Amino acid sequence: MLRKCRKAHAFIGVLCFAILMGASGCRERTSNIDNSNHTLVLGFAQLGAESSWRIGNTKSIIEAARDAGIQLMYTEAEQKQENQIKNIRSFIAYQVDIIAFAPIVETGWENVLQEAKEAGIPVILTDRKIEGNEDLYTCYIGSNFITEGEMAGEFLKKKFYYTKDEINIVELVGTLGSSPAEERSKGFRQSISDDEKFRIIESVCGDFMQSKGKEAMGKILKNHDNIDVLYCHNDSMALGAIAAIEEAGLVPGKDIVIISIDGEQEAIDALKAGRINCVIECSPMLGPKIMDTAKRIMNGEQVHKAIYIEDRVFTEWDDLSDLPPRGY
Ligand code: AHR
Repeated sequence: MLRKCRKAHAFIGVLCFAILMGASGCRERTSNIDNSNHTLVLGFAQLGAESSWRIGNTKSIIEAARDAGIQLMYTEAEQKQENQIKNIRSFIAYQVDIIAFAPIVETGWENVLQEAKEAGIPVILTDRKIEGNEDLYTCYIGSNFITEGEMAGEFLKKKFYYTKDEINIVELVGTLGSSPAEERSKGFRQSISDDEKFRIIESVCGDFMQSKGKEAMGKILKNHDNIDVLYCHNDSMALGAIAAIEEAGLVPGKDIVIISIDGEQEAIDALKAGRINCVIECSPMLGPKIMDTAKRIMNGEQVHKAIYIEDRVFTEWDDLSDLPPRGY
């Protein structure tokens, strides 16, 4: 059993932004939480606050840690991988019990994860996946992004079932090199590949941000007057793109069919108002599952390597009048 003490205030000084939930004084680290006096310490390295989804995700994690009696050390990396790596290293230095993080991109994590492994600290990937050696982390908790892309394609095939003409699609892509961007692109292409009428005429990065979604769509609209469909990798970019479409004098949801992913309240409201045609859910409410899994791992239980959250599809054909508030 490894025994080390650190002062919480010393830790705060190391981080650019941190919330310590109930952190105090010295503590004991163990790989098996069988001692009721021990408060499990989880270091969570969030990637940033780029979207409403992310803000909802952060809220879920902070609340779930509090409810589970887990001491949370929380950091944000302002969408920069080097910050996220630095924050994970701080958790290792502090000798937290367990680390969870949402990797901004898929590559470049080997060294820091090897350091965590050597320190005996298990790592949970949440929300996004990484490429490479699966031995460097314990499990992944989040959505299946390939399935989300496929669901977007399935909606399109139903929507244009009776149309013979070519359908011109524009895609607003999330952060390049991130697993949701890669897999939502892949799943969507796989789904529409069996019908030649679907043509992706532009695919532009909007970095999952509303402002960049608006900017990218504004430029695309200047170059094309034949767009039938806009497929957005998240709601924030879709809401930005809708503003650009309206500024160009077009009617979103009618002149251009819009499909988006996340299911945040504003997008569901736009769907109800006919300005979006289909929203694929991607739940950010991962907190309870992360806390439960962290406890299981620390109790020495085996957990599944990939723990997927089930997502739904909301379309213009559904009655959404009874849908409870989304909470993000
Ligand atoms: O990784 C999940 C994606 O990241 C969400 O779809 C998006 O809104 C967020 O920024």
